[in-house]
Amino acid sequence: MDQSDKKLNAAKASLEYIQDGFVLGVGTGSTIDFLLDLLPNIRQKIDKVVSSSMETTVRLESHGFEVTTLNSVGDLDLYIDGADEATKHLHLVKGGGGALTREKVLAGAARKFICIIDESKLVGMLGKFPLPIEVLPMAQAFVARRMVKMRGQPIWRENFVTDNGNHIIDVHNLQISNPLELEGRINQIPGVISVGIFANRPADVLLIADGEGVRTIGL
Ligand code: 5RP
Repeated sequence: MDQSDKKLNAAKASLEYIQDGFVLGVGTGSTIDFLLDLLPNIRQKIDKVVSSSMETTVRLESHGFEVTTLNSVGDLDLYIDGADEATKHLHLVKGGGGALTREKVLAGAARKFICIIDESKLVGMLGKFPLPIEVLPMAQAFVARRMVKMRGQPIWRENFVTDNGNHIIDVHNLQISNPLELEGRINQIPGVISVGIFANRPADVLLIADGEGVRTIGL
C-alpha cells in the first residue's frame, strides 16, 4: 500500500465523524484533497462548509459546494485537517502548505478537531519537519533573527505569499520538547502572525493510516 492509499484511508475514516446537519470546516493539503473528493457522496449531511484556504475553496467549488465564511456561521461542529507531524499527545506541526493561520482559526472555532495522517507523520518529538511561521513581510528578518537566538535555522520560503498576503519562514533543526511553551514563546515575537505548532489547541482525534488499517488516538 503506498502513501496515497493511506491518505485516502485516513480521509475515509474521518467521514464517520460527520453527522447530519453539521457545519464542517476543512483544512488544506494532499490528504485533505482525498476528503474533499469524497464529500460529494455525503453532501446531504453537510449543512455548511468553511474552508481554510483558497486552494481548498477552489476544490470544494469544483464539487459544487457553496463555501461559507466563518463569520457567518459561528462555531464549527467539526474541523478535519492533515498535519506535517503529529505526536501521540495530539500535538501537531502544520503549515507545510502555508495555510496555517486560517487552519489555526478554524481549529480554534471547532467543537471537535480531527487530524488525518499517514503513519509517516507520527513522530516521538516534533521538529524534524521545518517549523512554518507566518510573518508580516516587514518583520521577516527580525523574526528570523529571533529564531536563530532560539537555536533554529530559519529559511525564507521564496516566491510564496500566503492567502493573507504574508510570508513564511521555515525553521529547521528545532527540537520541540515542549510544544505548548514554544508555541507561546514564538507567538509573542512581534510580527509573527502565527506559528505552525498546534499544542494550545491540539487535535481531539488523530486518525493514523498504516499498511494494516486506520488507528485512532484520542476521544
Ligand atoms: C497545510 C497543512 C497541511 O495539513 C500539511 O502540510 C499536510 O499536508 P499533506 O496532507 O499534503 O501532507 O498544514 O498548511
